[in-house]
Parts: sequence; structure tokens; C-alpha cells
Amino acid sequence: MDKIVIPQTDQILVNGLSLIGGHVQVDIVRSLFDTKMAGLLDGAGGASCHLCTASDEEIKSIDWVRSGFPINRLISDAWQLFDDVNEDDFLKLPSKQRLGITHKSTSDINIIAASPLHAYLCVFRWYMLLIYHLDAGHKVWSPSNDKVNASMRRIRAILLEKCSFSVDIPSSQGGTSTTRNIARDCFLDKRDFLKWATSSINLSDKPLLEKIQTNLSVVLRLVNSGNLINCSKMEELCKETYEYILVQFPWANITPSLHKLLSHSFKIIGEYNNGRGLQNLSEECSEACNKFVRRYRENLARKTSFCDNVRDILVRLLCCSDPLLVQNRFTSTKTRNSSANDTNSLQDILYNSIVLENDN
Ligand SMILES: *[C@@H]1O[C@H](CO)[C@@H](O)[C@H](O)[C@H]1NC(C)=O
Ligand SMILES: *[C@@H]1O[C@H](CO)[C@@H](O)[C@H](O)[C@H]1NC(C)=O
Ligand SMILES: *[C@@H]1O[C@H](CO)[C@@H](O)[C@H](O)[C@H]1NC(C)=O
Ligand SMILES: *[C@@H]1O[C@H](CO)[C@@H](O)[C@H](O)[C@H]1NC(C)=O
Ligand SMILES: *[C@@H]1O[C@H](CO)[C@@H](O)[C@H](O)[C@H]1NC(C)=O
Ligand SMILES: *[C@@H]1O[C@H](CO)[C@@H](O)[C@H](O)[C@H]1NC(C)=O
Ligand SMILES: *[C@@H]1O[C@H](CO)[C@@H](O)[C@H](O)[C@H]1NC(C)=O
Repeated sequence: MDKIVIPQTDQILVNGLSLIGGHVQVDIVRSLFDTKMAGLLDGAGGASCHLCTASDEEIKSIDWVRSGFPINRLISDAWQLFDDVNEDDFLKLPSKQRLGITHKSTSDINIIAASPLHAYLCVFRWYMLLIYHLDAGHKVWSPSNDKVNASMRRIRAILLEKCSFSVDIPSSQGGTSTTRNIARDCFLDKRDFLKWATSSINLSDKPLLEKIQTNLSVVLRLVNSGNLINCSKMEELCKETYEYILVQFPWANITPSLHKLLSHSFKIIGEYNNGRGLQNLSEECSEACNKFVRRYRENLARKTSFCDNVRDILVRLLCCSDPLLVQNRFTSTKTRNSSANDTNSLQDILYNSIVLENDN
């Protein structure tokens, strides 16, 4: 192993690491929050969106979609609201007037969560629910309805048999079998996904689904890429798709993830990430560690207190990515077969018209 030379002077090392007065300083960009965490931090436990203060009705309003939803949920406003009245009176106000706030915010920064991976999973889940509802001919949004449930089980079986996609099958860990790769491949319409998923729905609905599938797929690929993006063009695409969904499927629920993708993603890219897709803010790597976290927590961490437990888990996770240890890790020489085709010509034309500079 190389001898470690500690530099004597202050200097910027790599990737947000710097050396200041003999201490290593790490820049932390807080962008990984799931909805639960965002709700705890910004106090808006009852809000539909942690980026804007739009109400449930406004989220489904075409006028709002056309004029755009500003990113206007500010921690300073949340604090202000609490300062104006006493807490008990405040909590008696209607939710809309409280901007969905249910407790005092515990954060001092605004919560801008990127979550490109969850955008894939959650928007795909919404799209599948839309298909199940159409298949069942049940045009009222109710995912637990018996007819919708029956359609789900039937379509799930067809997809497994005809295209080997295991979609929406509950897993033992509480999630479902849908992974990012499955969601991406289905949106890319590999193995004739749409044809099989819609094999028994009303013919007149199929072209509508095909169109939103194309547009959602392109938006999701843009968000998950590291490419430089023409944000105003992406904004047009998002708004047109959002409006189309509201017009064609007025009964469908607009889930928080769908709203966030179609009304805020282009702004996060343009205003908070220098116009590049959000790949470098992805929660994918930390999500991939979940299985290790479970293992460390159970077998390799003290259980004397919550803090001890979390500290031991974090230390182990840091060890996994230690540059010196990683150098000595066994690496497989097998190369992955890249015959899997990431392309879909129709979608690629639209995709390439929005990307300004492709970095892969
Ligand atoms: C769907 O049906 C299955 C089997 O009948 C049942 O176990 C499950 O709880 C139902 N799911 C929902 C969301 O109602
Ligand atoms: C199929 O769509 C047509 C036209 O929208 C409608 O009249 C018909 O009732 C639908 N059939 C079913 C089974 O939903
Ligand atoms: C971005 O797209 C818009 C059309 O929405 C176009 O007018 C503009 O020239 C594009 N910008 C670049 C840098 O290509
Ligand atoms: C898809 O996006 C294109 C380009 O912005 C737009 O012209 C079209 O109306 C959109 N289609 C749907 C179904 O949203
Ligand atoms: C991600 O990339 C953008 C654009 O290159 C850059 O401005 C931003 O600082 C990067 N963020 C992180 C956390 O690396
Ligand atoms: C990799 O792809 C080639 C064709 O490009 C195919 O002949 C080969 O069987 C594939 N290997 C595996 C392991 O899938
Ligand atoms: C991948 O897609 C391209 C363009 O659509 C096509 O020409 C090529 O045959 C595809 N390759 C495979 C292995 O499917």
C-alpha cells in the first residue's frame, strides 16, 4: 500500500474535499430526501408538494399548468406562519391556509430534493395504475378497487409471461419487484411492453397511452442523465404532457411525483444544477447500499443506543468507499454485454432535440 503523504498547506483536493488547517473538510450537498424526511424537515407533513405550495385542486388545474408552478415553498415562510399566531390556533386553520404545514420546521435550509431514481419508479407506478384503471374500465381513481386489482393481477401475469418483466409484484422487503431498469425498459417499450400491457383495453385509449409513454420516458431519461439540456424546450415538453394528461384523463390522480417531474424538474435542472440532468444528485448509489445497511445494523453495529448504532453503520459505509481500500478490491474482468439496446428511435428523436451536449 502507498505511504500516505499529508500535505502541509491548505488546499482543495478532489470532489468537494479540501484540507483546511490540517483538517479534511467535506462539502455536503443535501439533496437526498425522501418524502417522509422532507416532510419532517420542512414541517409540511400534509402538503402535496415539498417544492411549491400549490393545493390539490391547483395541481389539477390547467391554468396553473400553463402558467407554471414556481418553486416557492420557503422555510422562512414556514417559520413566519408559526410566528404570527400561537401554535394551537394555527393548527386549527384549514390545511390550505396553513400551506399543508403540520408542525414547526426543523430545517434552516429550503428542501430541494432531486430524487431522479424515485421519479422513475413512482411515475412508472402511476402509469401502470392508469393502465389498470383503463383495463378495468373504471374511470374513477381508486387503486384498491376490486376490478382494478383484478386487472392488475392479469396484466402482471401477461407481462411476466410475454416479455419477462416482473412488474408490481410485492416483495418481501415491503417494496415491489419493479426496479429502475424495468421501469426504464418498459418506458422504452422494449419487448413490445405497451402492446402486451394494453392487450385487452379499449382500442381508442391505446394511442393516448403511447403518446404519454413516449413523453414521460423522454423526460425521465433527461432527468436521469448528466447531459446539458435545453431547459426551455424541456419545459414545453413537460407542460404539454401535463396538460394532455389532465385533458385526456381528468379522473386520474396526479401523484406528487408526477407533479414534481412535470412541473419542477426542468427548473431544478436549470436553476440548481447548471442546466445538466440530475444524474450527479441521484439517490441510486445510496439506495443500492440498503441491503448493506440492513446487514450492518443487524450484525455489525452496537445496539447500546440509537446514536451508537447509526454511527457504526455510517463508519462501515464510509469504509466501503475508502479510496485506499477500494484500490485493493477484487474487480471482475468480465465485461457486461451491452447488447441491451437503450434506444427507441421515436423517443430518441425527441430526446436528442432537447439535449444540447451529450456527455456519454
Ligand atoms: C388484491 O387482491 C388480492 C387477492 O385477492 C388481495 O390479497 C389484495 O389485498 C388486493 N389488493 C388491494 C390493493 O386491494
Ligand atoms: C370504448 O370506447 C368507446 C369510445 O370512447 C366507448 O363508446 C365504449 O363504451 C368503450 N368500451 C369499453 C368497454 O369501455
Ligand atoms: C432551446 O429551445 C428553444 C425552443 O424551445 C429554441 O428557441 C432555442 O434556440 C434552443 N436553445 C439552444 C441553445 O439550442
Ligand atoms: C409530447 O411532447 C411533444 C413535444 O413537446 C408535444 O408536442 C406533444 O403534444 C406531447 N404529447 C403528449 C401526448 O403529451
Ligand atoms: C452536478 O453537476 C452540476 C453541473 O455540472 C454542478 O453544477 C453541480 O455542482 C454538481 N453537483 C454535485 C453535487 O456534484
Ligand atoms: C452477448 O451478446 C452477443 C451478441 O451481441 C451474444 O452472441 C452473446 O450470447 C451475449 N452473451 C451473453 C452472456 O448474453
Ligand atoms: C438497437 O437499436 C438500433 C436502432 O433502433 C437497431 O438498429 C439495432 O439493431 C438494435 N440492436 C439490438 C441488438 O437490438
